[in-house]
Amino acid sequence: MTNTHPMHGPNKFKLGVFSMNSDGGLTLTKVPERWPATWPDIVAAAQMADKAGFEFLLPIARWKGFGGEMNSREWSLETFTFAAGLAGVTQNIAVFSTVHVPMVHPVFAAKALTTIDHISNGRSGLNIVCGWNPEEFSMFGLGLQAVDDRYGQGLEWFDIMQKIYNSSEPFDYDGKFYQLKGVSGKPAPIQKPRPVTLNAAFSPPGRDFAAKAADYLFTTFVEIDKGREHIDDMKQRAAAQGRNVGVYTTCHVVCRPTQQEAEDYYELYASTMADTASVDHYMGQKEKFSGSHDPDAYRLHRKRFAGGAGTYPLIGTPEHIASELVKMQAIGFAGTTVSFVNFKNELPYFIDKVLPLLREAGLRH
Ligand SMILES: Cc1cc2nc3c(=O)[nH]c(=O)nc-3n(C[C@H](O)[C@H](O)[C@H](O)COP(=O)(O)O)c2cc1C
Repeated sequence: MTNTHPMHGPNKFKLGVFSMNSDGGLTLTKVPERWPATWPDIVAAAQMADKAGFEFLLPIARWKGFGGEMNSREWSLETFTFAAGLAGVTQNIAVFSTVHVPMVHPVFAAKALTTIDHISNGRSGLNIVCGWNPEEFSMFGLGLQAVDDRYGQGLEWFDIMQKIYNSSEPFDYDGKFYQLKGVSGKPAPIQKPRPVTLNAAFSPPGRDFAAKAADYLFTTFVEIDKGREHIDDMKQRAAAQGRNVGVYTTCHVVCRPTQQEAEDYYELYASTMADTASVDHYMGQKEKFSGSHDPDAYRLHRKRFAGGAGTYPLIGTPEHIASELVKMQAIGFAGTTVSFVNFKNELPYFIDKVLPLLREAGLRH
């Protein structure tokens, strides 16, 4: 790999912004200021994050909305073209694409990713998602496969991409999921041997996939202390493959001058103004078809699903939020993404108030 990629930069705890490409961000709320995911707003927020030294911009991969009144996420921008657009308007930050294995052919994906790597001068990133949502699969005429096949296909997909990047001669591929003839592709990406790769998953098969194919697992947790087990488990699975795989996680944020203000706003957008029918639908589908969360999360934390798709809540003063991030770094997370009700309105306060505290704590320069 080149050492210029932001994910290989010096900060002990990396920061990304997640799901700006989709309406509502990660929320399922009806508040009028909810994220519209219009391109000018996305560019403004992306440039703020870039200027503030965030390491990465990570889009969500979605094709269908989650129903209810707002049908949040139906409005979502495709993630290769999103990253290519952002590469042109940012300077240093990594621009990830989140790619559904079954919906996107690996020969196409390899070329799209390498194109972004060239446009961005080595700042691209790949987030592999093997998929869980049968309503989206149906749009492509696909059924949801058994878990082993999902990850089995993922491994072939990734193998083909790596071969394209590293073969000097055309090759044939004879797998269970792909039978391809005379495959080749140029240019190779700027990053060697390939762009930085995340895998978004939670379950043991997902972690095994990350152990074989990713540089980092991108995952959820319910309580910070429990996160440590998860990280240790991932490290062991990676070590069994002779690899080292870091773990990133994901949080939703309400940062305000007082704890009360932050909690009041959280209550407003994630309870009083939650898009209830959408939360019911989303939680039901996720619990049935995906292993993205600890089972306790569905039982205990409905508000977190309205507030940020079941991610961990950072709700409070800058000091509180910084102290939570310090704990996450201490147990071994490589970094986290943050999401807000409205990224453009709320990033400036986070940047002004939380980042200096992380610098003081030695987590970031
Ligand atoms: C942090 C995180 C982010 C995810 N992002 C996406 C996404 O953008 N699009 C998607 O379809 N699935 C996404 N997923 C779902 C996973 O790709 C996977 O399909 C799901 O977690 C089920 O697999 P698992 O049981 O192995 O975790 C995400 C999962 C996690 C944990």
